[in-house]
Amino acid sequence: MLSVAINDLRFRNPLLLASGILDESGESMLQVIKHGAGGVVTKSIGMEPREGYENPVIYELSYGLLNAIGLANPGIENYGEEIKIAKRGGVPVIGSVFGKDAEEFAYLARKMEEYGVDAVELNLSCPHARGYGMEIGVDAALVEEIVKEVKRKVNIPVWAKLTPNTHNIVEIAKAASDSDALVLINTVRAMAIDIEAKLPVLSNIFGGLSGPCIKPIGIRAVYEVYREVEKPIVGVGGIIDARDVIEYIMAGASAVEIGTAIYLRGIHVFSEIASEMEDWMKKHGYEKIEELVGIAQVR
Ligand SMILES: Cc1cc2nc3c(=O)[nH]c(=O)nc-3n(C[C@H](O)[C@H](O)[C@H](O)COP(=O)(O)O)c2cc1C
Repeated sequence: MLSVAINDLRFRNPLLLASGILDESGESMLQVIKHGAGGVVTKSIGMEPREGYENPVIYELSYGLLNAIGLANPGIENYGEEIKIAKRGGVPVIGSVFGKDAEEFAYLARKMEEYGVDAVELNLSCPHARGYGMEIGVDAALVEEIVKEVKRKVNIPVWAKLTPNTHNIVEIAKAASDSDALVLINTVRAMAIDIEAKLPVLSNIFGGLSGPCIKPIGIRAVYEVYREVEKPIVGVGGIIDARDVIEYIMAGASAVEIGTAIYLRGIHVFSEIASEMEDWMKKHGYEKIEELVGIAQVR
């Protein structure tokens, strides 16, 4: 009932692990798979090992999370073993990568392909890493160049993960339309201040906001892009329960990714949402996820 396909890639359910949460090691990805995820996306991996920013890098708010981890990662050359371990889980593994230009992205994507991932996700959207992510992802010409170059160099599907921190996400989505799927959205650039310390709470000052408070932004992005660009969409941002997933699917997503909800509900969130979704679909007379994709679009 819950099985979905993004192009030719089949998932047992539409609930994938989002990049950056419990997914730096193969073992933690295996745990997430055991708890029901339909697929996993790795932490974003770059050319060199990176320590990330100094603490504090994460700050809990009553309506979400603020983070500026700083793209901490072990570097691509050290990552093959983690993919091998994650692949034992028997569901698709998507390798997320970040680079500073088309050449780096293409190199990283080829390495991921060599390691055996089922698709590669281009992080064109981190809101707080200088020279990476969103600085690239708001430039339509650069997005187009990166996606084209990666497509030329790999044979696996290429997913482009876009930032909501732009006034024109549709234009960026069109620029990324050589990709095989669009992933919407990464975190929203934000900050918070500790009024007793009279200082920003994060060492990096600026970070990315995730969790329930960004869901309406994610829904809007998916809805807007679905009507303008003919590509499968993976919805991300603020999903906590089955109703949120169904909302994303009705806006136009074919699958979703879940991150912050793991902090809020625990690793069981995948199997719990899957069974909540089955209940909802039975109650409303739906047999397949595909029947729901984009049905809230008002033409
Ligand atoms: C602690 C943390 C680390 C993250 N790291 C990455 C990352 O490395 N690459 C990436 O593309 N997105 C990263 N994200 C963004 C998530 O993948 C996701 O797009 C965002 O958190 C919105 O989904 P959520 O509300 O379900 O968490 C990170 C998010 C959090 C909270």
